Amino acid sequence: MTVSPRHRALPVLGTALTGALLLTLTGCGSDSGGSGDRPDLSVSSAYMPQPVSDMAAGFLTVTNKGGAQDRLTSVTSDTAGSVTLHGTTGQTMTEVTSLTVPAHGQLVFKSGGYHLMFEKLRQQPKQGGTVTLKLHFATSGPLTVEMPVKPATYNPATGH
Ligand code: CU
Repeated sequence: MTVSPRHRALPVLGTALTGALLLTLTGCGSDSGGSGDRPDLSVSSAYMPQPVSDMAAGFLTVTNKGGAQDRLTSVTSDTAGSVTLHGTTGQTMTEVTSLTVPAHGQLVFKSGGYHLMFEKLRQQPKQGGTVTLKLHFATSGPLTVEMPVKPATYNPATGH
C-alpha cells in the first residue's frame, strides 16, 4: 500500500496550524502596548485596473495600528454579484475564505499576490470612475472603500 504525498503532507499542516494558534494566544496575553488590545484598521492604496472582461481584480492595503489582529472575512459591493478573496500560487489563483490583518501590521493585496476578484459585474467599471466596496472583519466594524478605476495596465509602482 502506498501513501500519497498529499496524505503525508497533512500532519505537517496540522503542526503549522497548532503553532499559529499558540502564537495567537500568547500574543493576546503579553501584548499590552500603548495602542491597546483592539485592532485599529485603515485602508489605503486601493485601485482597480479597468477590467477587460466580466471579471475585475481589485487591490488595496489594510493597515492595523492596533495591538490585536483582525480577520478580513468577506467583501461586498453593489457593483458585483460576487467578490471573493484570491491568493496566487505560481500561475494559479486560489480562493481563500479569510485573511489575517496582523497586529501592528498590514494585509497587502497586490498584483501577483492577494487580490479581490469581482465577478458577475452589474455595471462595467470605467477608468476615472470608482467602485464602492465594503470590507467585513471578524472584530472591527465594516469599512467602506471608494476604489478608483485605473487604466487596464496601471502599475502603482510607476503611477501609470
Ligand atoms: Cu483571482
